[in-house]
Formats: sequence, structure tokens, C-alpha cells
Amino acid sequence: MVLLRYLVLMEYLVLSALAQGIRIAAPANGMIVSAESELTVEVQKLNSIASSIEVAIVIGFLNCGFPAPSPSPMDEVGAVLFNGPYHPTLHNGVGYQNFTVVIPEFALPGSAQLSVVHFNLIGVASLV
Ligand SMILES: *[C@@H]1O[C@H](CO)[C@@H](O)[C@H](O)[C@H]1NC(C)=O
Repeated sequence: MVLLRYLVLMEYLVLSALAQGIRIAAPANGMIVSAESELTVEVQKLNSIASSIEVAIVIGFLNCGFPAPSPSPMDEVGAVLFNGPYHPTLHNGVGYQNFTVVIPEFALPGSAQLSVVHFNLIGVASLV
């Protein structure tokens, strides 16, 4: 049996300045996924003049039920699907990194939130 889940995508940027950030380029908002399936999350780095040092990202999954008032990822990230370094590379002029995550087996029918919490340092010089 395939149970359908509905993903509402949001992103949340931690310690990101105005012109510096990321966006979730894939999957598309509203994509339907099933529990325990693999999902590719494409995290694009937005162009910026300011130099930055990437530190890490966390990808979280949160059940939201019917309908879908999702809390801010600032309040609740949910289950952590990925936690680690973010090293976007250029593909046809677009800087991004793909992450393959698995939708948790405890995903419930209804909507869910996929969030990406991004941590980077803006306008700094690295001596290491
Ligand atoms: C990254 O994932 C997206 C969405 O699935 C896909 O279109 C793209 O080809 C992938 N890029 C690489 C380098 O695998």
C-alpha cells in the first residue's frame, strides 16, 4: 500500500544577511511523496557580492496534518533528515548541492513541512 503525503516546503535561513541565502530548488512546493521514499533536495546558493563561508545545513521534516498550518522552522524543525556540511558547486552556472534524504516511516497522511536551516558566515575572511 502506498500512503500519499503532501509536502509543503518552506525554508528558513539562520544567520543569513539580506543578499545572502539559499533556496530550495527541488522538490517543488506541494510535491506528493510517500513514507520511506527517497527524495532529492536541491539547495541552491543565491548569488551575492559579499563573501561568505558555508558552515552547515540541516534538513528537517515535520508532519502538519490537515489542513496545513506549519510552525516556523525557527520554532520546530521536526525530524532531522540531514545534518552536515554544505558545499554547493557550480552546475551550468548555478551553484547548488543535492541531498538525498529519506521520508520518515512515521510520516502521516496530510501535509508536511520540509525545512532547510542554513548556517553561514557573511563578510568574513577565513585564516584556516
Ligand atoms: C540535482 O537534483 C535535481 C532535482 O532532482 C536534478 O534536476 C539535477 O540534475 C541534480 N543535479 C545533479 C548534479 O545531480
